[in-house]
Amino acid sequence: MVSEPSDVPWSHLRALARDATQRSYAPYSHVLVGAAALTVAGAFVVGSNIENASYGLTLCAECSLVSDLVRQGGGRLRALAVVAGDGEPLAPCGRCRQVLYEHAGAALEIDQGEGHDVLTLGDLLPHAFGPDDLPARSTR
Ligand code: THU
Repeated sequence: MVSEPSDVPWSHLRALARDATQRSYAPYSHVLVGAAALTVAGAFVVGSNIENASYGLTLCAECSLVSDLVRQGGGRLRALAVVAGDGEPLAPCGRCRQVLYEHAGAALEIDQGEGHDVLTLGDLLPHAFGPDDLPARSTR
């Protein structure tokens, strides 16, 4: 847990995430999701959920955000806000926690809403498996 305030522009991240819900493609669940993050280098990246008639192929907003990160040249994520169509924080799903871990590590700060302490990805995904585990556990 990280106590507010920090030098992260949380209200801007929330505004970007809320704006991204307007570009969500969610004709099946009607759950609009927007995500916005600040990178360690100071860039902003955003994403929206993209559903599919083959439901299991849906891309979450956080996956879309990671795609934007890579499209912008990559880097490490520092702070993240995810909101639903009502503008309130939405907890990243289990799969997204793992996807985010690859591009942020345990220190990623995740918004819990104005006035609430920020959680880290390490809080949401303790004892994570990550890229460092691959060489350590390889038998070749
Ligand atoms: N969704 C996200 O975009 N991110 C999450 O972390 C949880 C769920 C989306 C996927 C789907 O389009 C909708 O929310 C309902 O599950």
